[in-house]
Amino acid sequence: MTWDEVDWASLDRLRALFLRSEPVREPYWRSLSDLASYDFTYAQRIAWKWGAALSELLRLGWAPPAGPLLDWGCGSGVASRCVVDAFGPANFAEVRLHDRSVPAMQFASGRTRTRFPGLRAEADPLGQGPCTTLVISHVLNELHRDDLPRLMEALRAAQCVLWLEPGTHACSRGLITLREQLRGQFHIVAPCPHRQACGLQAAGRESDWCHFFAKAPTEAFTDGEWVQFGRRAGIDLRSLPYSWLVLDRRPVAEWSADRARVIGLPQSFKPYTRLDACHSGGPDGPAAVDRLEIPKRADPEWHRRLRESPPPPEIPRPR
Ligand SMILES: C[S@@+](CC[C@H](N)C(=O)[O-])C[C@H]1O[C@@H](n2cnc3c(N)ncnc32)[C@H](O)[C@@H]1O
Repeated sequence: MTWDEVDWASLDRLRALFLRSEPVREPYWRSLSDLASYDFTYAQRIAWKWGAALSELLRLGWAPPAGPLLDWGCGSGVASRCVVDAFGPANFAEVRLHDRSVPAMQFASGRTRTRFPGLRAEADPLGQGPCTTLVISHVLNELHRDDLPRLMEALRAAQCVLWLEPGTHACSRGLITLREQLRGQFHIVAPCPHRQACGLQAAGRESDWCHFFAKAPTEAFTDGEWVQFGRRAGIDLRSLPYSWLVLDRRPVAEWSADRARVIGLPQSFKPYTRLDACHSGGPDGPAAVDRLEIPKRADPEWHRRLRESPPPPEIPRPR
């Protein structure tokens, strides 16, 4: 596809749906052309977020077990293509594409076969049955309460789960609620450095949320077509906030108790940098998310790195 082929009327219609304050309950993909235009634009922005999350998994030395992958709520299938790209098609026995929309399943399976010619990719209208890797992307705020049991069924049948949502307060809080329900059955690969109750559930932290930022590629602000798309869609392409959760039934490498995960973006003030640090609490626990104000005089170079977007993923645990 090229920018000249983008169906702007279709993207405008989708934008109006995505911006609605209440969840989108009805199927909204009307044609394969809707999906192609979405895949070329909005979905690329989602791919940039997946890129950040997947490179963090590679940094942690984690990979999914070999076997079938199920993309639940696949849309154009961008999320599973990113996952297969990151770990290699040889790691996946097949890709199953599930969505409430038939055109979405058709488009996503076709795109996956084109991208990975040796890999079996099929529509999966039920979205159930065992899989080793379950991928969920940007689905939570469209999910009706009645659909949750079906998704929970898919979660129960999975060996590992890679779940990425927008970095909003509502989506992050939704993921935290699900994390609390699932942490007894799964080990937590990311973003949490521990498997205890989430520190953001502590009293007084209700207005905070767990989110991260991906780095937009240069073309997002230098390429005239992307700039025009950003304006028309009403989104700042440079800001790529996401929330995520990666779960594995296999034991995972524990974070050293003296390390903490940086959440969100550190804020720089003249005398100090303020940031949220998530950690296990050390041998005596409990896990917590601490708001730190770290004086700058100690190490100006380190504070410069904390101001980068994204900041370093981990820092020494606060004492
Ligand atoms: C915003 S799109 C995201 C698509 C894709 N996962 C991505 O990251 O680009 C949400 C998708 O979830 C699908 N969806 C919403 N509710 C669903 C449900 N109950 N069962 C299956 N799919 C659902 C929609 O049809 C849509 O394709």
